[in-house]
Amino acid sequence: MQRRNGFLVALALGGLMFVGCGQQSPPASTSPTPAAAPPGATTAAAPPGAAAKADAPVSAEFIASLPGAAKWKGKKNPVPDTPENLAKGKELFLKNCATCHGDTGTGDGPAGAALDPKPRNFSTESFKFGGEDWQLMRTIMDGAPQPSGMVGWDGRLDEKDAWTLINYVKALKAGKT
Ligand code: HEC
Repeated sequence: MQRRNGFLVALALGGLMFVGCGQQSPPASTSPTPAAAPPGATTAAAPPGAAAKADAPVSAEFIASLPGAAKWKGKKNPVPDTPENLAKGKELFLKNCATCHGDTGTGDGPAGAALDPKPRNFSTESFKFGGEDWQLMRTIMDGAPQPSGMVGWDGRLDEKDAWTLINYVKALKAGKT
């Protein structure tokens, strides 16, 4: 009887060892590589828990790929930002843009309330698609990447009026109005 018990214990131990070995050393050839970050992947993104900001600037390459970029790239604003032109810009803004961007450009116009992304608040947010005059011209004439409530104004807005609006939007941003 004792002998038989010893035999059973040995069997049980052997079984355990077998299972243990199976778990510890899978064949080297099928051993999966631990999930490594792909080359070039960055871990320096937004801090954990921080939602991506709606106005986080996009790259210069992305701007260059947007509609109208080739047409407007490097163009200078021919309209000087004189008080008279800023007054004209305000008029144009209230007529065309305030319905979404709000009368003072704070992004709270009634037509913008249901939009996602929200109309830019010029006094607190950045220009996501570039703040140089030609980049603003591109955004106004050709729109933000779709889908977005900021559709292009090409054909609805005179070029000179668009440049005039750019001075006014920049003045709103700088708190100069
Ligand atoms: C129908 C609503 C609507 C109207 C009208 C409108 N916008 Fe916008 N605008 C938006 C929205 C929405 C955004 C945010 C775009 C995005 O993040 O995709 C925006 C963004 C912008 C931006 C910021 C782009 C950037 O780089 O962050 C500028 C500049 C701008 N609008 C100018 C104007 C001007 C000038 C007018 C008037 C000619 C105008 N918008 C009219 C909805 C509107």
